[in-house]
Amino acid sequence: MQNGTLWTDRDGLPLHAHGGWILQYEDTYYWYGEDRRDRFYVSCYMSRNLKDWTFRNHILTMDSPMQPYRVRTKLQLKREDGGKVNLERPKVIWNRKTGKFVLWAHFENGNDYTEAAAAVATCDTPDGDFTYHGHFNPYGYMSRDCTLFQDEDGTAYFISAARDNADMHVYRLSEDYMNVDALVNRLWQGEYREAPAVTKIGDTYYMLTSFCTGWAPNQGKYAVSDSMEGRWSSLKDIGDVTTYHSQPAFILQRDGKVLYFGDRWGGGGEKYFTSGYVVYPLTEKNGELTMQCTEEALL
Ligand code: GAL
Repeated sequence: MQNGTLWTDRDGLPLHAHGGWILQYEDTYYWYGEDRRDRFYVSCYMSRNLKDWTFRNHILTMDSPMQPYRVRTKLQLKREDGGKVNLERPKVIWNRKTGKFVLWAHFENGNDYTEAAAAVATCDTPDGDFTYHGHFNPYGYMSRDCTLFQDEDGTAYFISAARDNADMHVYRLSEDYMNVDALVNRLWQGEYREAPAVTKIGDTYYMLTSFCTGWAPNQGKYAVSDSMEGRWSSLKDIGDVTTYHSQPAFILQRDGKVLYFGDRWGGGGEKYFTSGYVVYPLTEKNGELTMQCTEEALL
Protein backbone atom coordinates (compact mmCIF):
# COMPACT_ATOMS: atom_id res chain seq x y z
CA MET A 1 0.00 0.00 0.00
CA GLN A 2 1.42 3.31 -1.10
CA ASN A 3 1.58 5.99 1.56
CA GLY A 4 -0.62 9.01 0.98
CA THR A 5 -3.19 7.25 -1.21
CA LEU A 6 -6.73 6.16 -0.46
CA TRP A 7 -6.37 2.44 0.13
CA THR A 8 -8.92 -0.13 -0.98
CA ASP A 9 -10.56 -3.06 0.78
CA ARG A 10 -10.62 -6.65 -0.47
CA ASP A 11 -13.52 -5.83 -2.77
CA GLY A 12 -11.42 -3.12 -4.41
CA LEU A 13 -13.57 -0.36 -2.91
CA PRO A 14 -12.13 2.75 -1.23
CA LEU A 15 -11.50 2.18 2.46
CA HIS A 16 -13.29 5.00 4.31
CA ALA A 17 -12.01 4.99 7.87
CA HIS A 18 -10.47 8.44 8.26
CA GLY A 19 -9.26 10.00 11.52
CA GLY A 20 -9.49 6.42 12.70
CA TRP A 21 -8.29 3.77 15.06
CA ILE A 22 -7.31 0.11 15.05
CA LEU A 23 -8.42 -2.17 17.87
CA GLN A 24 -6.83 -5.56 18.26
CA TYR A 25 -9.38 -7.99 19.68
CA GLU A 26 -8.54 -11.68 19.92
CA ASP A 27 -6.66 -12.50 16.69
CA THR A 28 -8.30 -9.79 14.59
CA TYR A 29 -7.65 -6.12 13.86
CA TYR A 30 -10.66 -3.81 13.53
CA TRP A 31 -10.15 -0.51 11.79
CA TYR A 32 -12.75 2.14 12.68
CA GLY A 33 -12.92 5.57 11.15
CA GLU A 34 -14.95 8.40 9.72
CA ASP A 35 -17.07 7.53 6.71
CA ARG A 36 -18.83 10.70 5.60
CA ARG A 37 -20.68 9.18 2.65
CA ASP A 38 -24.47 8.87 2.51
CA ARG A 39 -26.03 8.42 5.97
CA PHE A 40 -22.86 6.93 7.48
CA TYR A 41 -20.72 8.25 10.32
CA VAL A 42 -18.35 5.45 11.34
CA SER A 43 -17.33 2.36 9.37
CA CYS A 44 -15.47 -0.75 10.47
CA TYR A 45 -13.14 -3.05 8.52
CA MET A 46 -11.37 -6.19 9.72
CA SER A 47 -8.03 -7.80 8.94
CA ARG A 48 -5.74 -10.48 10.29
CA ASN A 49 -2.56 -9.10 8.73
CA LEU A 50 -3.12 -5.29 8.58
CA LYS A 51 -2.87 -5.44 4.77
CA ASP A 52 -6.06 -7.09 3.55
CA TRP A 53 -9.12 -5.30 4.88
CA THR A 54 -12.66 -6.63 4.68
CA PHE A 55 -15.55 -4.22 5.13
CA ARG A 56 -17.69 -5.28 8.10
CA ASN A 57 -20.31 -2.67 8.89
CA HIS A 58 -21.40 0.95 9.03
CA ILE A 59 -21.39 0.80 12.83
CA LEU A 60 -22.74 4.30 13.40
CA THR A 61 -25.12 6.05 11.00
CA MET A 62 -27.90 8.65 11.04
CA ASP A 63 -30.26 5.75 11.76
CA SER A 64 -28.38 4.11 14.64
CA PRO A 65 -30.38 3.11 17.72
CA MET A 66 -30.17 5.68 20.52
CA GLN A 67 -30.36 4.99 24.22
CA PRO A 68 -29.95 7.36 27.17
CA TYR A 69 -27.93 6.32 30.21
CA ARG A 70 -27.17 7.74 33.64
CA VAL A 71 -24.93 10.51 32.25
CA ARG A 72 -26.97 13.46 31.00
CA THR A 73 -26.24 13.78 27.27
CA LYS A 74 -27.94 15.09 24.16
CA LEU A 75 -29.16 12.29 21.89
CA GLN A 76 -28.81 13.70 18.42
CA LEU A 77 -27.70 11.98 15.22
CA LYS A 78 -29.36 14.43 12.82
CA ARG A 79 -29.59 18.18 12.46
CA GLU A 80 -32.98 19.76 13.08
CA ASP A 81 -33.43 20.11 9.31
CA GLY A 82 -32.74 16.35 8.92
CA GLY A 83 -29.17 16.85 7.69
CA LYS A 84 -26.05 15.23 9.06
CA VAL A 85 -24.19 16.12 12.20
CA ASN A 86 -20.43 15.65 12.33
CA LEU A 87 -18.75 12.75 14.15
CA GLU A 88 -14.98 12.87 13.93
CA ARG A 89 -12.00 10.80 15.07
CA PRO A 90 -13.91 7.78 16.45
CA LYS A 91 -11.93 5.43 18.75
CA VAL A 92 -13.08 2.10 20.25
CA ILE A 93 -11.81 0.12 23.23
CA TRP A 94 -13.06 -3.06 24.83
CA ASN A 95 -14.08 -3.04 28.47
CA ARG A 96 -13.08 -6.31 30.12
CA LYS A 97 -15.46 -5.79 33.06
CA THR A 98 -18.64 -5.00 31.13
CA GLY A 99 -17.79 -6.89 27.93
CA LYS A 100 -18.80 -3.79 25.92
CA PHE A 101 -17.00 -2.17 23.01
CA VAL A 102 -17.08 1.53 23.85
CA LEU A 103 -16.69 4.23 21.19
CA TRP A 104 -15.73 7.84 21.86
CA ALA A 105 -15.74 10.51 19.16
CA HIS A 106 -15.84 14.27 18.59
CA PHE A 107 -19.37 15.57 18.00
CA GLU A 108 -20.31 18.73 16.09
CA ASN A 109 -23.79 19.92 15.07
CA GLY A 110 -23.11 19.78 11.31
CA ASN A 111 -23.22 23.56 10.87
CA ASP A 112 -20.09 24.73 12.70
CA TYR A 113 -17.59 23.67 15.37
CA THR A 114 -19.23 25.39 18.34
CA GLU A 115 -20.65 22.25 20.02
CA ALA A 116 -17.15 20.87 20.75
CA ALA A 117 -18.50 17.80 22.53
CA ALA A 118 -17.57 14.19 23.27
CA ALA A 119 -19.90 11.43 22.01
CA VAL A 120 -20.25 7.88 23.36
CA ALA A 121 -21.65 4.71 21.75
CA THR A 122 -21.48 1.01 22.69
CA CYS A 123 -21.91 -2.44 21.24
CA ASP A 124 -21.64 -6.07 22.42
CA THR A 125 -19.51 -6.99 19.41
CA PRO A 126 -16.64 -5.10 17.75
CA ASP A 127 -18.39 -4.71 14.40
CA GLY A 128 -22.10 -4.75 15.20
CA ASP A 129 -24.60 -1.88 15.09
CA PHE A 130 -23.49 0.49 17.84
CA THR A 131 -26.05 2.11 20.14
CA TYR A 132 -25.58 5.87 20.39
CA HIS A 133 -25.65 7.35 23.91
CA GLY A 134 -25.34 11.01 23.02
CA HIS A 135 -22.84 13.84 23.43
CA PHE A 136 -21.79 16.09 26.29
CA ASN A 137 -19.09 18.58 27.29
CA PRO A 138 -16.86 16.90 29.91
CA TYR A 139 -17.08 19.07 33.07
CA GLY A 140 -18.44 21.76 30.77
CA TYR A 141 -15.24 21.99 28.72
CA MET A 142 -14.99 22.12 24.96
CA SER A 143 -13.78 18.83 23.55
CA ARG A 144 -12.58 18.66 19.92
CA ASP A 145 -9.86 16.45 18.35
CA CYS A 146 -9.65 13.39 20.58
CA THR A 147 -8.21 9.97 21.21
CA LEU A 148 -8.40 7.12 23.72
CA PHE A 149 -5.61 5.30 25.49
CA GLN A 150 -6.06 2.04 27.39
CA ASP A 151 -3.30 1.18 29.82
CA GLU A 152 -2.16 -2.36 30.61
CA ASP A 153 -4.10 -2.43 33.91
CA GLY A 154 -7.33 -1.52 32.10
CA THR A 155 -7.37 2.14 33.15
CA ALA A 156 -8.47 4.16 30.14
CA TYR A 157 -8.10 7.82 29.23
CA PHE A 158 -9.91 10.19 26.89
CA ILE A 159 -7.66 12.93 25.57
CA SER A 160 -9.16 15.95 23.81
CA ALA A 161 -8.46 19.51 22.76
CA ALA A 162 -10.20 22.09 24.97
CA ARG A 163 -10.64 25.89 25.05
CA ASP A 164 -10.94 26.37 21.28
CA ASN A 165 -8.02 23.94 20.89
CA ALA A 166 -5.65 25.99 23.07
CA ASP A 167 -5.11 23.23 25.67
CA MET A 168 -4.95 19.42 25.59
CA HIS A 169 -6.97 17.73 28.35
CA VAL A 170 -6.44 14.22 29.69
CA TYR A 171 -9.47 12.63 31.39
CA ARG A 172 -9.34 9.32 33.21
CA LEU A 173 -12.44 7.29 32.34
CA SER A 174 -14.79 5.64 34.80
CA GLU A 175 -14.43 1.86 35.21
CA ASP A 176 -17.13 1.17 32.62
CA TYR A 177 -15.53 3.67 30.17
CA MET A 178 -18.90 5.42 29.84
CA ASN A 179 -17.97 8.69 31.52
CA VAL A 180 -15.01 10.82 32.49
CA ASP A 181 -13.96 10.17 36.07
CA ALA A 182 -11.41 12.96 36.57
CA LEU A 183 -9.61 15.65 34.60
CA VAL A 184 -6.07 14.46 35.35
CA ASN A 185 -4.01 16.76 33.13
CA ARG A 186 -4.27 20.06 31.27
CA LEU A 187 -1.32 20.14 28.91
CA TRP A 188 0.58 22.66 26.79
CA GLN A 189 -1.71 25.61 27.46
CA GLY A 190 -1.93 27.95 24.51
CA GLU A 191 0.09 25.64 22.24
CA TYR A 192 -2.97 24.66 20.13
CA ARG A 193 -2.23 20.96 19.72
CA GLU A 194 -4.67 18.72 17.84
CA ALA A 195 -4.97 15.12 16.62
CA PRO A 196 -3.55 13.41 19.74
CA ALA A 197 -2.23 9.83 19.54
CA VAL A 198 -0.73 8.01 22.53
CA THR A 199 1.46 4.94 22.87
CA LYS A 200 3.48 3.31 25.64
CA ILE A 201 6.97 1.96 25.02
CA GLY A 202 8.42 0.11 28.00
CA ASP A 203 7.31 2.19 30.98
CA THR A 204 7.20 5.47 29.07
CA TYR A 205 4.17 7.19 27.55
CA TYR A 206 4.45 9.15 24.30
CA MET A 207 1.86 11.55 22.93
CA LEU A 208 2.03 12.79 19.34
CA THR A 209 0.01 15.80 18.25
CA SER A 210 -0.31 18.14 15.31
CA PHE A 211 -0.62 21.92 15.33
CA CYS A 212 -3.96 23.51 14.51
CA THR A 213 -4.16 24.33 10.75
CA GLY A 214 -7.42 22.64 9.65
CA TRP A 215 -6.90 20.13 6.85
CA ALA A 216 -3.39 21.36 6.00
CA PRO A 217 -0.53 19.36 7.54
CA ASN A 218 1.99 20.95 9.88
CA GLN A 219 4.94 20.14 12.16
CA GLY A 220 4.18 17.13 14.36
CA LYS A 221 5.40 17.18 17.94
CA TYR A 222 5.59 14.64 20.73
CA ALA A 223 5.95 14.66 24.49
CA VAL A 224 7.01 12.06 27.05
CA SER A 225 5.82 11.10 30.51
CA ASP A 226 6.29 8.39 33.14
CA SER A 227 2.55 8.37 33.77
CA MET A 228 -0.60 9.50 31.96
CA GLU A 229 -1.55 11.42 35.09
CA GLY A 230 1.91 12.77 35.84
CA ARG A 231 4.06 15.53 34.44
CA TRP A 232 4.55 15.59 30.66
CA SER A 233 7.65 16.94 28.96
CA SER A 234 7.58 19.98 26.72
CA LEU A 235 6.93 19.42 23.00
CA LYS A 236 9.65 18.19 20.66
CA ASP A 237 9.54 18.07 16.86
CA ILE A 238 8.90 14.80 15.06
CA GLY A 239 8.97 14.29 11.28
CA ASP A 240 9.36 17.33 9.04
CA VAL A 241 7.37 20.59 8.88
CA THR A 242 4.39 18.71 7.38
CA THR A 243 4.90 15.47 9.38
CA TYR A 244 5.61 14.03 5.92
CA HIS A 245 2.22 15.27 4.68
CA SER A 246 0.11 13.76 7.41
CA GLN A 247 -1.80 14.40 10.63
CA PRO A 248 -1.82 11.79 13.44
CA ALA A 249 -4.71 9.33 13.61
CA PHE A 250 -3.36 6.72 16.08
CA ILE A 251 -0.33 4.58 16.92
CA LEU A 252 -0.34 0.79 16.78
CA GLN A 253 2.31 -1.58 18.08
CA ARG A 254 2.83 -4.92 16.42
CA ASP A 255 5.65 -7.47 16.75
CA GLY A 256 7.86 -4.90 18.44
CA LYS A 257 7.22 -2.33 15.69
CA VAL A 258 5.70 1.04 16.54
CA LEU A 259 3.49 2.17 13.65
CA TYR A 260 2.25 5.72 13.22
CA PHE A 261 -1.00 5.89 11.24
CA GLY A 262 -1.80 9.31 9.84
CA ASP A 263 -4.32 10.91 7.52
CA ARG A 264 -3.25 12.72 4.39
CA TRP A 265 -6.36 14.86 4.11
CA GLY A 266 -7.66 15.80 0.67
CA GLY A 267 -9.32 18.86 2.24
CA GLY A 268 -12.87 19.99 2.96
CA GLY A 269 -16.01 19.48 0.86
CA GLU A 270 -15.75 16.88 -1.92
CA LYS A 271 -11.96 16.80 -1.58
CA TYR A 272 -12.38 15.14 1.81
CA PHE A 273 -13.32 11.87 0.06
CA THR A 274 -9.91 11.69 -1.66
CA SER A 275 -8.11 11.69 1.72
CA GLY A 276 -5.48 8.97 2.01
CA TYR A 277 -3.52 7.19 4.71
CA VAL A 278 0.10 6.89 5.73
CA VAL A 279 1.91 4.47 8.02
CA TYR A 280 5.38 5.54 9.14
CA PRO A 281 7.56 3.52 11.53
CA LEU A 282 8.52 5.23 14.78
CA THR A 283 11.81 4.46 16.51
CA GLU A 284 12.57 5.08 20.15
CA LYS A 285 16.15 5.55 21.32
CA ASN A 286 17.14 6.90 24.74
CA GLY A 287 13.68 8.40 25.17
CA GLU A 288 13.79 10.19 21.79
CA LEU A 289 11.23 9.34 19.14
CA THR A 290 11.92 9.59 15.42
CA MET A 291 9.65 9.05 12.41
CA GLN A 292 10.81 7.46 9.18
CA CYS A 293 9.19 8.61 5.95
CA THR A 294 8.66 5.66 3.60
CA GLU A 295 7.03 5.36 0.15
CA GLU A 296 5.24 2.17 1.09
CA ALA A 297 3.33 1.41 4.28
CA LEU A 298 5.63 -1.16 5.89
CA LEU A 299 2.96 -3.26 7.55
C1 GAL B 1 -8.55 19.43 11.70
C2 GAL B 1 -8.92 18.25 12.59
C3 GAL B 1 -9.80 17.33 11.78
C4 GAL B 1 -11.01 18.12 11.28
C5 GAL B 1 -10.54 19.33 10.50
C6 GAL B 1 -11.70 20.20 10.07
O1 GAL B 1 -7.76 20.35 12.40
O2 GAL B 1 -7.78 17.60 13.03
O3 GAL B 1 -10.19 16.23 12.57
O4 GAL B 1 -11.75 18.55 12.38
O5 GAL B 1 -9.68 20.11 11.28
O6 GAL B 1 -11.26 21.39 9.49
